[in-house]
Amino acid sequence: MKRKSKYNVAIMGATGAVGEEMLKILEERNFPIDRLLLLASRRSTGKKYFFKKRELTIEELRRDSFHGIDIVLASAGGAISKKFAPLAVKEGAVVIDNTSAFRMDPGVPLVVPEINAHDIRRHKGIIANPNCSTIIMLVPIYPIHRRNPIKRAIVSTYQAASGAGAKAMRELEEQSRDVLEGRPPRKEVFPHQIAFNLFSHNSPIREGGYNEEEIKMMRETRKILHDDKIKVTVTCVRVPVFRAHSEAIYLELSEKPVLSRIRNLLAKAPGVRLVDEPKKNYFPMPIEAMGQDKVLAGRLRLDAASPKGLWLFVAGDQLRKGAALNAIQIAEILCGLSG
Ligand code: A2P
Repeated sequence: MKRKSKYNVAIMGATGAVGEEMLKILEERNFPIDRLLLLASRRSTGKKYFFKKRELTIEELRRDSFHGIDIVLASAGGAISKKFAPLAVKEGAVVIDNTSAFRMDPGVPLVVPEINAHDIRRHKGIIANPNCSTIIMLVPIYPIHRRNPIKRAIVSTYQAASGAGAKAMRELEEQSRDVLEGRPPRKEVFPHQIAFNLFSHNSPIREGGYNEEEIKMMRETRKILHDDKIKVTVTCVRVPVFRAHSEAIYLELSEKPVLSRIRNLLAKAPGVRLVDEPKKNYFPMPIEAMGQDKVLAGRLRLDAASPKGLWLFVAGDQLRKGAALNAIQIAEILCGLSG
C-alpha cells in the first residue's frame, strides 16, 4: 500500500462489539488518521461516537461508501464482508476482514502479526483476521512450536459471550438479572440459557460432529503456521463470561519439554504475559485478561502420562487481541508503522 502520513479509514460494523473496540484502539494507539468513517446498518444511522474528542456520526453502509478510503476494518458479519469487501478493494482500499468470509481463501493472507506478519506482503486487497479463539491459542503456543515443533494439540475453549457480538453480551447481563430476580430468562441470541450455565459452542455442527468454531480453529491453525501436518482437535464451549476467552491446551511436542525453558520462552514471547504462580494457585483468568492487549499464559505442567506432553492454560481478551487489536496491528504493519 502507498505510504502516507495519514490514512482514510472506515470501520464497517462500527456499532458492534468489535467495531467499538476498533474505534478505541485506533485512538489509544494514535493511528495516523485523516478521515474516519463509521459505517453500520441503516438502523444506526445518525448514532454519535467520539474519536479524539471529535464527534462522529454513523453512516449507512452503501456500495459507494468507500470512495477515497485507504483501509477498511470490517466486522459486520461474513455476508456483509462478502458483498462489500470486493467493492472497497475496487475503490483502491485494503480490507482487513474480521469475519470468516475470506479466511480460508488461498489468495488471502490470514495473519497473526506475532507469527506470520510476512504473509501480509502477498495480499491482493484483502487480509483476513483469524478467528478469536485461534489467535488466543496461537500467540502463546507459537514460541513453543518454533523451538520444539508441536505434533498434536488438544484444546478445550471456555468462550465469552462477546464472541457472539454486542447483543449476546447484553443477553448475558439481562439473563443474569432475570435469574437473580426470579424471572424466567429470555433467550434471543443464544439457543440456551447463558447466565449461570455453559453449553457446547452455538455454531452449527458439521462434518464428523465438530462445530464450525472448532473447524475454524483447526483449519486456520494449519494455514497460519503453514503446516498441514500439525494435528489439532478442539472442543469449543460457551461460558457465562463477558469478553475474554480461556483455553486449556495440551501439546504433544517433538521433544521432551523442559518446564524452565518453556517458562522463559513465554516470559519473553511477544504478545504474552506469563501468569504462573503454582504456590498461590494463581493462573490466567478471563477477568484479568479483560481489557488487556496480551494473552495470559500459565498453569504450565508436564503431562502425567506422555513424556512429550505439555499442558497450559491461557486467557485473552476476545474483543482486543482476539479481534480489534490484531486487525489494527495488521494495519500498522501495512502502513509501515511497525515491523
Ligand atoms: P447495526 O448496529 O446498525 O446493526 P455485533 O457483532 O456486535 O453484533 O455487531 C455487528 C455490526 O455489524 C454492527 O455494527 C451492525 O450494525 C453491523 N451490521 C449488521 N448488519 C448490517 C448491515 N446489513 N449493513 C451494515 N452493517 C451491518
